[in-house]
Amino acid sequence: MLFYRSFNYVLSKYNVGFLHFLFLIQSSLGQHCKSTPESADKTGLCQTPSNEETESMSNALAVVLYDEDSVLPIHQRERTFRYCGRDIVIKQDWTGLGVAAVVWDAAEVLAEYIEERAEILKDKSVIELGAGTGLVGMVAALLGAKTTITDRIEVLKYLQTTVETNLPPDVYQSTQVLPLDWCKDLDKFHTTYDVILGADIVYIEEVFEDLLRTLIQLSNKETVIFLSCRIRYDRDTNFIKRLEEHFVVLTLLYDKDKDVNLYKVTKR
Ligand SMILES: C[S@@+](CC[C@H](N)C(=O)[O-])C[C@H]1O[C@@H](n2cnc3c(N)ncnc32)[C@H](O)[C@@H]1O
Repeated sequence: MLFYRSFNYVLSKYNVGFLHFLFLIQSSLGQHCKSTPESADKTGLCQTPSNEETESMSNALAVVLYDEDSVLPIHQRERTFRYCGRDIVIKQDWTGLGVAAVVWDAAEVLAEYIEERAEILKDKSVIELGAGTGLVGMVAALLGAKTTITDRIEVLKYLQTTVETNLPPDVYQSTQVLPLDWCKDLDKFHTTYDVILGADIVYIEEVFEDLLRTLIQLSNKETVIFLSCRIRYDRDTNFIKRLEEHFVVLTLLYDKDKDVNLYKVTKR
């Protein structure tokens, strides 16, 4: 079931030709449980496929042709982005760390948005939630924000290394990389922030209430929250509605190519 969901998602998201399609069968089978963030389990990590799924994977593998050019961006081992006049090189680790160790389109949308509006972040206290590779947080830090970049403890070493290798030493010095699991670490965060950033963090229904509680606790009346989201399912829309009970939610833009919404969220 997970396989077919991932499969449909990939076909609808990427308009691929037939050879690409065959390659994607291979990619999806190898990583079928991690092809989209929503196919990960509550911890964001991969679930073991059932015997039935494994068997269908082996059968399908027999017809796969390999085409190096059709590797999806999230499957590439390394990607280079350019923000604030610097190259940011991200080593992706889809096989090891899954959804957290690849750059999602929503991160690019949010990074571009803040880069074009440096005044939103300069000298502000900023926290990034569910940072994954930390791309958005690094751009915030480069723009002069006092930045705290967070994710689950499982991905922290990877995140720390990515941030340390990409930021100039003086910027890195004033940037924090901290564990923040919305379900269990909230009591360690007592301050509120000027700006909260979150890219593609609305996808696990089981933790929606924890995410909401996190946003409430880390914000005050002046805080501006930027959430970039691909809305994949009704439950994601429901989360935005739930958010509106506590916050004013404004859609700033919809990136049609990337299928990503960017929301500006402020406390009621
Ligand atoms: C789809 S990835 C997005 C990563 C990155 N923001 C990006 O857009 O490239 C979702 C991120 O949310 C994080 N995440 C999932 N559940 C979480 C939780 N309970 N607490 C904190 N982070 C969580 C994952 O570890 C992962 O890094």
